[in-house]
Amino acid sequence: MNRNLTYALVAGTLAFSLVVVAAQAPEPTQSTWDGIYTDEQAQRGQPLYKKECASCHGDLMSGGEMSPPLTGGEFLANWNGLTVGDLFERIRTTMPISKPKTLSRQTNADILAYIFSMGKFPAGKEEMPPDAEMLKQIKIDAEKPEAKPKP
Ligand code: HEC
Repeated sequence: MNRNLTYALVAGTLAFSLVVVAAQAPEPTQSTWDGIYTDEQAQRGQPLYKKECASCHGDLMSGGEMSPPLTGGEFLANWNGLTVGDLFERIRTTMPISKPKTLSRQTNADILAYIFSMGKFPAGKEEMPPDAEMLKQIKIDAEKPEAKPKP
């Protein structure tokens, strides 16, 4: 084999390995596209959302006069690249704005599952745990990370 070609191949392989390592290294190991809540959990969250959040954020999460939407491009742009743990803590410590910190962690996790279901993120087999540290392992990706080949 031509020596220059060999060098090029080796360099290319190295660069590729670095990209792979870099892609695997970052802290969050999961994405909001990995099925991070269950349908059942989102269904539990729905009446809780209606009771605690809908008066301001709207039944369809499209926002109200003073309150921002909790679904759609603007909302996702605010949270893209942050973690589910960050959003969980934001809600837990500041919402409902009229009586923050009054809802249990479990209630917040269930409401968040409902928010993700309304945001068209897929449900999965395991419930989202009511634990900010564990949820910091899950990255919020506004766009699905890579288009998987169609089956
Ligand atoms: C009394 C009205 C009211 C209620 C009830 C309420 N919110 Fe809010 N919420 C607001 C307002 C106003 C803002 C914007 C000001 C701020 O960020 O603090 C906000 C902001 C937010 C944000 C930040 C949005 C962003 O784009 O970053 C989230 C997330 C959120 N609320 C979730 C909830 C959830 C979940 C509930 C129910 C547990 C809830 N809110 C209940 C009024 C309310």
